Amino acid sequence: MELFEKMTTRAKAHKQRIVLPEGTEPRTLTAADRIIADDIADIILIGDPAEIMKLAGELRLENISKAKIVNPADENVIDRYAPLFFELRKSKGISMEEARLTTANPLYLGCLMVKAGDADGQVAGAMNTTGNVLRAAFQVIKTKPGISVVSGAFIMLLPPGLNYGTDGVMVFADCAVVPDPTAPELAQIAVSAAETARNIAGIEPRVAMLSFSTKGSAKHERVDKVIEATKIAHEMAPSLILDGELQADAAIVPSVANSKAPGSPLSGRANVLVFPSLEVGNIAYKLVQRLGGVQAVGPVLQGLAAPVNDLSRGCYPEDIYKTIIMTCNQAIKD
Ligand code: ACO
Repeated sequence: MELFEKMTTRAKAHKQRIVLPEGTEPRTLTAADRIIADDIADIILIGDPAEIMKLAGELRLENISKAKIVNPADENVIDRYAPLFFELRKSKGISMEEARLTTANPLYLGCLMVKAGDADGQVAGAMNTTGNVLRAAFQVIKTKPGISVVSGAFIMLLPPGLNYGTDGVMVFADCAVVPDPTAPELAQIAVSAAETARNIAGIEPRVAMLSFSTKGSAKHERVDKVIEATKIAHEMAPSLILDGELQADAAIVPSVANSKAPGSPLSGRANVLVFPSLEVGNIAYKLVQRLGGVQAVGPVLQGLAAPVNDLSRGCYPEDIYKTIIMTCNQAIKD
Protein backbone atom coordinates (compact mmCIF):
# COMPACT_ATOMS: atom_id res chain seq x y z
CA MET A 1 0.00 0.00 0.00
CA GLU A 2 1.25 3.50 -0.81
CA LEU A 3 2.45 5.62 2.18
CA PHE A 4 -0.50 8.05 2.16
CA GLU A 5 -3.05 5.24 1.79
CA LYS A 6 -1.53 3.59 4.88
CA MET A 7 -1.50 6.88 6.82
CA THR A 8 -5.11 7.65 5.82
CA THR A 9 -6.32 4.23 6.92
CA ARG A 10 -4.53 4.61 10.26
CA ALA A 11 -5.87 8.15 10.78
CA LYS A 12 -9.45 7.01 10.14
CA ALA A 13 -9.07 4.16 12.61
CA HIS A 14 -7.85 6.47 15.43
CA LYS A 15 -9.68 9.73 14.77
CA GLN A 16 -7.65 12.69 16.04
CA ARG A 17 -8.65 16.32 16.70
CA ILE A 18 -6.62 18.68 14.51
CA VAL A 19 -6.67 22.43 15.05
CA LEU A 20 -6.22 24.76 12.07
CA PRO A 21 -5.39 28.30 13.29
CA GLU A 22 -5.77 29.77 9.79
CA GLY A 23 -9.51 29.05 9.70
CA THR A 24 -10.32 32.00 7.47
CA GLU A 25 -7.79 31.03 4.79
CA PRO A 26 -9.47 29.56 1.66
CA ARG A 27 -6.99 26.72 0.91
CA THR A 28 -7.08 25.67 4.57
CA LEU A 29 -10.86 25.69 4.60
CA THR A 30 -10.99 23.65 1.37
CA ALA A 31 -8.63 21.03 2.84
CA ALA A 32 -10.61 20.96 6.10
CA ASP A 33 -13.84 20.33 4.18
CA ARG A 34 -12.28 17.33 2.40
CA ILE A 35 -10.85 15.90 5.65
CA ILE A 36 -14.33 16.08 7.21
CA ALA A 37 -16.01 14.63 4.10
CA ASP A 38 -13.52 11.71 4.10
CA ASP A 39 -14.08 11.19 7.85
CA ILE A 40 -10.34 11.35 8.61
CA ALA A 41 -10.16 13.74 11.59
CA ASP A 42 -12.23 16.05 13.75
CA ILE A 43 -11.42 19.57 12.65
CA ILE A 44 -11.18 22.64 14.89
CA LEU A 45 -11.02 25.95 13.02
CA ILE A 46 -9.80 29.13 14.69
CA GLY A 47 -11.37 32.32 13.39
CA ASP A 48 -14.47 34.47 13.37
CA PRO A 49 -17.41 32.02 12.95
CA ALA A 50 -19.41 34.37 10.69
CA GLU A 51 -16.40 34.96 8.43
CA ILE A 52 -15.62 31.23 8.24
CA MET A 53 -19.22 30.28 7.34
CA LYS A 54 -19.44 33.09 4.76
CA LEU A 55 -16.23 31.89 3.09
CA ALA A 56 -17.42 28.27 3.22
CA GLY A 57 -20.60 29.37 1.42
CA GLU A 58 -18.64 31.24 -1.26
CA LEU A 59 -16.39 28.20 -1.79
CA ARG A 60 -19.45 25.89 -1.78
CA LEU A 61 -17.97 23.76 1.01
CA GLU A 62 -20.70 21.59 2.48
CA ASN A 63 -18.97 20.05 5.50
CA ILE A 64 -17.58 23.04 7.38
CA SER A 65 -20.67 23.22 9.60
CA LYS A 66 -19.42 19.93 11.15
CA ALA A 67 -16.16 21.57 12.29
CA LYS A 68 -15.77 23.05 15.74
CA ILE A 69 -15.08 26.79 15.44
CA VAL A 70 -13.14 28.63 18.15
CA ASN A 71 -13.29 32.43 18.04
CA PRO A 72 -10.04 34.05 19.28
CA ALA A 73 -12.00 37.26 19.99
CA ASP A 74 -14.24 35.45 22.49
CA GLU A 75 -13.32 36.52 26.05
CA ASN A 76 -14.39 33.10 27.40
CA VAL A 77 -11.82 31.45 25.15
CA ILE A 78 -9.09 33.81 26.36
CA ASP A 79 -10.18 33.27 29.98
CA ARG A 80 -9.76 29.52 29.50
CA TYR A 81 -6.32 29.47 27.83
CA ALA A 82 -4.46 32.64 28.93
CA PRO A 83 -3.72 31.31 32.46
CA LEU A 84 -2.01 28.29 30.89
CA PHE A 85 0.15 30.52 28.70
CA PHE A 86 0.94 32.74 31.70
CA GLU A 87 2.01 29.66 33.67
CA LEU A 88 4.25 28.45 30.81
CA ARG A 89 5.93 31.84 30.28
CA LYS A 90 5.89 33.57 33.67
CA SER A 91 9.56 32.70 34.22
CA LYS A 92 10.24 34.88 31.15
CA GLY A 93 8.65 37.83 32.98
CA ILE A 94 5.37 38.17 31.04
CA SER A 95 2.29 39.75 32.64
CA MET A 96 -1.23 38.28 32.55
CA GLU A 97 -2.20 41.12 30.20
CA GLU A 98 0.55 40.07 27.76
CA ALA A 99 -0.50 36.45 28.15
CA ARG A 100 -4.08 37.36 27.18
CA LEU A 101 -2.88 39.26 24.09
CA THR A 102 -0.66 36.38 22.94
CA THR A 103 -3.44 33.85 23.57
CA ALA A 104 -5.61 35.73 21.06
CA ASN A 105 -2.99 35.01 18.37
CA PRO A 106 -4.43 31.95 16.56
CA LEU A 107 -1.01 30.25 16.23
CA TYR A 108 -0.61 30.36 20.02
CA LEU A 109 -4.26 29.60 20.74
CA GLY A 110 -4.07 26.40 18.67
CA CYS A 111 -0.93 25.27 20.50
CA LEU A 112 -2.56 26.08 23.85
CA MET A 113 -5.55 23.92 22.90
CA VAL A 114 -3.15 21.05 22.16
CA LYS A 115 -1.27 21.65 25.41
CA ALA A 116 -4.55 21.69 27.37
CA GLY A 117 -5.60 18.37 25.80
CA ASP A 118 -8.44 19.94 23.79
CA ALA A 119 -6.79 19.05 20.45
CA ASP A 120 -4.25 16.43 19.34
CA GLY A 121 -2.20 18.37 16.79
CA GLN A 122 -1.93 21.59 14.80
CA VAL A 123 -1.30 22.45 11.14
CA ALA A 124 -0.53 26.04 10.07
CA GLY A 125 1.68 28.06 7.78
CA ALA A 126 -0.46 28.71 4.68
CA MET A 127 -0.28 32.39 5.59
CA ASN A 128 2.24 32.57 8.45
CA THR A 129 6.03 32.29 8.26
CA THR A 130 7.84 29.14 9.39
CA GLY A 131 9.47 31.12 12.20
CA ASN A 132 6.12 32.25 13.63
CA VAL A 133 4.57 28.77 13.42
CA LEU A 134 7.63 27.19 15.07
CA ARG A 135 8.08 29.78 17.81
CA ALA A 136 4.51 29.27 19.10
CA ALA A 137 5.09 25.51 19.19
CA PHE A 138 8.47 25.83 20.92
CA GLN A 139 7.08 28.12 23.61
CA VAL A 140 3.83 26.27 24.31
CA ILE A 141 4.13 22.62 23.34
CA LYS A 142 7.83 22.25 24.03
CA THR A 143 9.94 19.18 23.38
CA LYS A 144 9.53 15.49 24.20
CA PRO A 145 11.29 14.08 27.27
CA GLY A 146 14.97 13.49 26.47
CA ILE A 147 14.90 15.86 23.48
CA SER A 148 15.69 19.59 23.61
CA VAL A 149 15.79 20.39 19.93
CA VAL A 150 13.00 20.30 17.35
CA SER A 151 14.01 19.47 13.80
CA GLY A 152 12.38 18.82 10.44
CA ALA A 153 12.55 15.59 8.42
CA PHE A 154 11.45 14.82 4.88
CA ILE A 155 10.15 11.42 3.87
CA MET A 156 11.60 10.83 0.42
CA LEU A 157 9.55 8.57 -1.86
CA LEU A 158 11.82 7.29 -4.60
CA PRO A 159 10.60 6.50 -8.12
CA PRO A 160 10.54 2.83 -9.20
CA GLY A 161 13.95 1.54 -10.27
CA LEU A 162 15.94 3.62 -7.80
CA ASN A 163 17.09 0.93 -5.39
CA TYR A 164 17.97 2.91 -2.28
CA GLY A 165 16.42 3.08 1.16
CA THR A 166 13.83 0.50 2.14
CA ASP A 167 11.04 -0.21 -0.33
CA GLY A 168 11.89 3.08 -2.05
CA VAL A 169 11.51 5.12 1.15
CA MET A 170 14.21 7.23 2.85
CA VAL A 171 14.16 9.88 5.60
CA PHE A 172 16.35 13.02 5.45
CA ALA A 173 16.97 15.28 8.50
CA ASP A 174 17.35 18.06 9.51
CA CYS A 175 16.18 19.89 6.42
CA ALA A 176 14.07 22.64 7.99
CA VAL A 177 14.87 23.99 11.43
CA VAL A 178 18.31 24.02 13.12
CA PRO A 179 20.84 26.07 11.13
CA ASP A 180 24.03 24.82 12.79
CA PRO A 181 23.42 22.00 15.29
CA THR A 182 25.96 21.18 17.99
CA ALA A 183 27.09 17.56 18.36
CA PRO A 184 24.47 16.79 21.08
CA GLU A 185 21.78 18.45 18.93
CA LEU A 186 22.85 16.45 15.88
CA ALA A 187 22.59 13.27 17.95
CA GLN A 188 19.02 14.22 18.95
CA ILE A 189 18.14 14.93 15.32
CA ALA A 190 19.36 11.41 14.45
CA VAL A 191 17.33 9.75 17.21
CA SER A 192 14.22 11.78 16.28
CA ALA A 193 14.66 10.95 12.58
CA ALA A 194 14.85 7.26 13.44
CA GLU A 195 11.54 7.60 15.26
CA THR A 196 10.00 9.40 12.28
CA ALA A 197 11.25 6.60 10.01
CA ARG A 198 9.68 3.93 12.19
CA ASN A 199 6.42 5.63 13.17
CA ILE A 200 5.57 7.77 10.15
CA ALA A 201 7.48 6.38 7.16
CA GLY A 202 6.90 2.79 8.28
CA ILE A 203 10.50 1.60 7.80
CA GLU A 204 12.97 0.11 10.27
CA PRO A 205 15.63 2.82 10.62
CA ARG A 206 19.25 2.39 9.50
CA VAL A 207 20.82 5.75 10.28
CA ALA A 208 23.86 7.31 8.60
CA MET A 209 25.58 10.35 10.14
CA LEU A 210 26.84 12.09 7.03
CA SER A 211 30.04 14.06 6.53
CA PHE A 212 32.62 14.77 3.85
CA SER A 213 34.79 12.15 5.55
CA THR A 214 34.42 8.38 5.97
CA LYS A 215 35.90 6.83 9.12
CA GLY A 216 38.73 9.33 9.50
CA SER A 217 39.53 9.89 5.81
CA ALA A 218 39.57 13.66 6.46
CA LYS A 219 40.47 15.70 9.53
CA HIS A 220 38.47 18.83 10.34
CA GLU A 221 36.49 20.25 13.25
CA ARG A 222 33.27 19.70 11.25
CA VAL A 223 34.16 16.00 10.93
CA ASP A 224 34.89 15.89 14.67
CA LYS A 225 31.37 17.21 15.32
CA VAL A 226 29.80 14.31 13.40
CA ILE A 227 32.05 11.76 15.16
CA GLU A 228 31.01 13.19 18.53
CA ALA A 229 27.32 13.22 17.52
CA THR A 230 27.57 9.57 16.46
CA LYS A 231 28.97 8.65 19.87
CA ILE A 232 26.20 10.54 21.70
CA ALA A 233 23.48 9.04 19.49
CA HIS A 234 24.79 5.53 20.31
CA GLU A 235 24.53 6.38 24.02
CA MET A 236 21.00 7.78 23.59
CA ALA A 237 19.72 4.79 21.58
CA PRO A 238 22.08 1.82 21.99
CA SER A 239 19.93 -0.59 19.97
CA LEU A 240 19.57 1.73 16.97
CA ILE A 241 21.44 0.68 13.81
CA LEU A 242 23.47 3.87 13.31
CA ASP A 243 26.94 4.64 11.98
CA GLY A 244 29.18 7.60 11.18
CA GLU A 245 30.98 9.52 10.10
CA LEU A 246 30.21 8.48 6.53
CA GLN A 247 30.20 10.09 3.10
CA ALA A 248 26.89 9.76 1.30
CA ASP A 249 28.14 7.06 -1.11
CA ALA A 250 29.54 4.96 1.76
CA ALA A 251 26.13 5.27 3.41
CA ILE A 252 23.92 4.14 0.55
CA VAL A 253 26.05 2.14 -1.92
CA PRO A 254 27.03 -1.34 -0.61
CA SER A 255 30.10 -1.69 -2.86
CA VAL A 256 31.47 1.71 -1.75
CA ALA A 257 30.70 0.86 1.89
CA ASN A 258 32.68 -2.36 1.43
CA SER A 259 35.81 -0.51 0.43
CA LYS A 260 35.52 2.72 2.46
CA ALA A 261 33.77 1.50 5.61
CA PRO A 262 34.20 -2.27 5.91
CA GLY A 263 32.37 -3.58 8.95
CA SER A 264 29.87 -0.70 9.03
CA PRO A 265 26.61 -2.02 10.52
CA LEU A 266 24.80 -0.20 7.71
CA SER A 267 26.67 -2.13 4.95
CA GLY A 268 25.84 0.72 2.56
CA ARG A 269 22.10 0.29 3.10
CA ALA A 270 21.19 3.38 5.13
CA ASN A 271 17.60 4.61 4.87
CA VAL A 272 17.86 7.59 7.25
CA LEU A 273 20.38 10.29 6.29
CA VAL A 274 21.36 12.83 8.96
CA PHE A 275 23.02 15.95 7.57
CA PRO A 276 25.66 17.90 9.52
CA SER A 277 23.93 21.29 9.03
CA LEU A 278 20.71 22.83 7.75
CA GLU A 279 22.51 24.21 4.69
CA VAL A 280 23.41 20.68 3.58
CA GLY A 281 20.08 19.11 4.53
CA ASN A 282 17.90 21.75 2.91
CA ILE A 283 19.95 21.90 -0.30
CA ALA A 284 20.27 18.10 -0.51
CA TYR A 285 16.55 17.36 -0.19
CA LYS A 286 15.64 19.99 -2.78
CA LEU A 287 18.25 18.73 -5.28
CA VAL A 288 17.27 15.09 -4.81
CA GLN A 289 13.61 16.07 -5.22
CA ARG A 290 14.21 18.04 -8.44
CA LEU A 291 17.03 16.08 -10.10
CA GLY A 292 15.96 12.63 -8.98
CA GLY A 293 12.21 12.90 -9.51
CA VAL A 294 11.72 12.04 -5.84
CA GLN A 295 8.57 13.01 -3.93
CA ALA A 296 9.49 14.86 -0.70
CA VAL A 297 6.84 14.62 2.02
CA GLY A 298 7.20 17.11 4.86
CA PRO A 299 8.77 18.70 6.67
CA VAL A 300 7.66 16.41 9.47
CA LEU A 301 8.45 18.39 12.61
CA GLN A 302 10.04 15.97 15.07
CA GLY A 303 10.93 16.28 18.73
CA LEU A 304 7.84 18.22 19.87
CA ALA A 305 5.81 16.81 22.75
CA ALA A 306 2.72 16.91 20.48
CA PRO A 307 2.64 17.35 16.70
CA VAL A 308 2.60 20.74 15.01
CA ASN A 309 3.37 20.93 11.32
CA ASP A 310 4.28 23.87 9.13
CA LEU A 311 3.04 24.50 5.59
CA SER A 312 4.68 26.40 2.78
CA ARG A 313 2.89 29.68 2.04
CA GLY A 314 2.72 28.55 -1.60
CA CYS A 315 0.92 25.32 -0.66
CA TYR A 316 -2.17 23.86 -2.35
CA PRO A 317 -5.24 22.43 -0.56
CA GLU A 318 -3.89 18.96 -1.42
CA ASP A 319 -0.68 19.69 0.54
CA ILE A 320 -2.69 20.85 3.56
CA TYR A 321 -4.92 17.73 3.32
CA LYS A 322 -1.84 15.47 3.32
CA THR A 323 -0.15 17.41 6.14
CA ILE A 324 -3.27 16.99 8.29
CA ILE A 325 -3.18 13.23 7.65
CA MET A 326 0.51 13.10 8.56
CA THR A 327 -0.14 15.10 11.73
CA CYS A 328 -2.90 12.66 12.73
CA ASN A 329 -0.40 9.81 12.37
CA GLN A 330 2.12 11.60 14.60
CA ALA A 331 -0.59 12.25 17.19
CA ILE A 332 -1.83 8.65 17.45
CA LYS A 333 -0.74 6.96 20.63
CA ASP A 334 -0.73 3.22 19.98
N1 ACO B 1 13.93 23.32 19.16
C1 ACO B 1 13.34 23.63 20.34
N2 ACO B 1 13.26 24.89 20.82
C2 ACO B 1 13.82 25.86 20.07
C3 ACO B 1 14.47 25.61 18.85
C4 ACO B 1 14.51 24.26 18.40
N3 ACO B 1 15.06 23.90 17.21
N4 ACO B 1 14.91 26.77 18.33
C5 ACO B 1 14.56 27.74 19.21
N5 ACO B 1 13.91 27.17 20.26
C6 ACO B 1 13.29 27.85 21.40
C7 ACO B 1 14.31 28.66 22.18
O1 ACO B 1 14.91 27.89 23.17
C8 ACO B 1 13.43 29.75 22.75
O2 ACO B 1 12.73 29.26 23.85
P1 ACO B 1 12.39 30.24 25.08
O3 ACO B 1 11.69 31.44 24.50
O4 ACO B 1 11.48 29.38 25.93
O5 ACO B 1 13.69 30.57 25.73
C9 ACO B 1 12.38 29.99 21.66
O6 ACO B 1 12.35 28.78 20.89
C10 ACO B 1 12.71 31.13 20.74
O7 ACO B 1 14.09 31.00 20.46
P2 ACO B 1 14.90 31.93 19.50
O8 ACO B 1 16.36 31.64 19.58
O9 ACO B 1 14.47 33.33 19.72
O10 ACO B 1 14.39 31.38 18.15
P3 ACO B 1 14.41 32.16 16.85
O11 ACO B 1 13.53 33.33 16.95
O12 ACO B 1 15.79 32.36 16.40
O13 ACO B 1 13.72 31.14 15.84
C11 ACO B 1 13.68 29.37 14.34
C12 ACO B 1 13.88 29.76 15.81
C13 ACO B 1 12.60 30.20 13.72
C14 ACO B 1 13.27 27.94 14.20
C15 ACO B 1 15.05 29.59 13.64
O14 ACO B 1 15.92 28.62 14.11
C16 ACO B 1 14.94 29.48 12.15
O15 ACO B 1 14.58 30.45 11.50
N6 ACO B 1 15.30 28.29 11.56
C17 ACO B 1 15.30 28.11 10.12
C18 ACO B 1 13.91 27.91 9.62
C19 ACO B 1 13.91 27.99 8.14
O16 ACO B 1 13.87 29.07 7.59
N7 ACO B 1 14.00 26.81 7.47
C20 ACO B 1 14.12 26.71 6.06
C21 ACO B 1 12.82 26.80 5.38
S1 ACO B 1 11.81 25.40 5.67
C22 ACO B 1 11.91 24.45 4.25
O17 ACO B 1 12.54 24.76 3.32
C23 ACO B 1 11.25 23.17 4.28
